Amino acid sequence: MNTILECENLSKTFGKKQILKNVSFKIEEGDILGFIGPNGAGKTTTIKLILGLQSITEGKVIINGYNIQTDFTKAIEKVGAIVENPDMYMYLSGYENLKLVANLYKGIPTRKN
Ligand SMILES: Nc1ncnc2c1ncn2[C@@H]1O[C@H](COP(=O)(O)OP(=O)(O)OP(=O)(O)O)[C@@H](O)[C@H]1O
Ligand SMILES: [Mg+2]
Repeated sequence: MNTILECENLSKTFGKKQILKNVSFKIEEGDILGFIGPNGAGKTTTIKLILGLQSITEGKVIINGYNIQTDFTKAIEKVGAIVENPDMYMYLSGYENLKLVANLYKGIPTRKN
């Protein structure tokens, strides 16, 4: 089994307020993980740290073997994420929306072979 995502002792503070304290978990290839917790527990903050959208106060995030802080491009290369609200361009067709997103990644074919 390959470890796809590893959070190691993740901590986050905003000012003097500690939001996350030593959050650690691993996801293996093929796993599906759900975050469950009360409002304000820190679920979104954890996801933002994993994606490099907010700075990590302490600890580390490893995606597919790459550290998000020191090897961001490689770590994020195969990650797709929608944080909070799924959204799309309503004036485009479904296919056009897919093409737009596909353009952000290397090596995605535009048609089936
Ligand atoms: N940018 C920020 N600056 C200061 N405090 C923040 C910031 N973002 C989040 N917080 C605080 O961090 C805590 C965790 O917020 P977070 O949004 O991660 O919780 P959540 O588990 O996703 O909650 P919800 O279930 O409501 O989506 C909350 O107390 C929130 O007020
Ligand atoms: Mg949230």
